[in-house]
Formats: sequence, structure tokens, C-alpha cells
Amino acid sequence: MSPPTEAAQVLAAVERFQQGLDQPYKMTPLGMWACSDPGELWELFQAVDLTRFRHLADLGSGDGRAVLLGSLLTQATGIEADPQLVAQGRALAQELGLSRASFILGDCRQEDLSPYDLLFIYPDKPLTWLEKMLPDPWEGRLLVYGAGFRPQGLRQLGALHAGRTLCTMWGR
Ligand SMILES: C[S@@+](CC[C@H](N)C(=O)[O-])C[C@H]1O[C@@H](n2cnc3c(N)ncnc32)[C@H](O)[C@@H]1O
Repeated sequence: MSPPTEAAQVLAAVERFQQGLDQPYKMTPLGMWACSDPGELWELFQAVDLTRFRHLADLGSGDGRAVLLGSLLTQATGIEADPQLVAQGRALAQELGLSRASFILGDCRQEDLSPYDLLFIYPDKPLTWLEKMLPDPWEGRLLVYGAGFRPQGLRQLGALHAGRTLCTMWGR
């Protein structure tokens, strides 16, 4: 099924941005930027039904693609350490009129994660730091894109493929 017009516009804008790059990855102040596939993200967010969550945070939001797409379905915030990538996400959100998308420039390991009931991450490193940052008790969910790194101390609640990418859902 093709995405609705608004999602198609976001997907097209993200793809335009990506096509303009020499390389769709780089080292950033705190890690490595590589991008998730926007079509897979949209498929994932439909399958998970983002509308049942109040507020999504992308921990390491890169150019903001997950935030932009997620904001079509709920409030969405990206936390990213690279100023150019944050600026790119903000510019696309403004260009596309996505008022529910916002971005924080900073280290997601220093942020208060209690406002968010859905954490999304496409990890660039092991997730050993994450579990101790979660509020206790925590009723939220963690959605991990890709099978490279698993969170520790959390329960896996489900798994699904978005395109060719294995994604997993976690809770306490
Ligand atoms: C693999 S990329 C994923 C980008 C984006 N979420 C996506 O789906 O396309 C990981 C991103 O996390 C960022 N990152 C890594 N550690 C971070 C930290 N502690 N705080 C904020 N951003 C971080 C990197 O700069 C990079 O942009």
C-alpha cells in the first residue's frame, strides 16, 4: 500500500536530502551517523501503531527522518549530538510544516527520558547505558531498529521485520 500524501512528502524530502550527500554516513561528536531506511521506518511505525503513544523520542536522531515521519502520527522529539544534523532535521520540519517534530542538540545519555513513552533507537554502539537511564517504574517501550545491539536488563516484547531490517520492542 502506498503511503498517504503527507508521508509521501516526508519520504521524498528525506530521499532528496540523502541523494545530495557524498556519503550517507559520518563520524559525529558522540558516534557514527548512518541512516535508517525511510520506507522501512514508515512501515515499522504503521505496524507498531505509533498513534497509541503520546511522545516518541529518537535517541540519536541523525538527520531527523524518524522524528519527521513519527510526527505524522504522534509528538516526536529527536536528540542528537551533531549540530549540522540537528539543523537539517529542524529545516526539514519547518519546510514540511511538521509542528509536532522537534529536536534537542545534546547527549541523549544526559537527557531526562521520563517525558517519552516510546523510545526509538538505531544504535551505533552497545546499549549498556540505556537501562539505567530509564525511570523506575517505567511503563514505556523501547523500539530498536536493527539487530546489531540489544538492550540489557529489559524484556523483549516482540520482533518484526520492516523491509529487510529486524526491529525489536522492549519493556521493563
Ligand atoms: C546510526 S545513526 C541513526 C540516525 C537516525 N536515528 C536514523 O534512524 O537515521 C546514530 C546517531 O546517533 C547519534 N548519537 C550517538 N550517540 C549519541 C549520544 N550519546 N547523544 C546524541 N546522539 C548520539 C549519532 O551522532 C548518529 O547520528
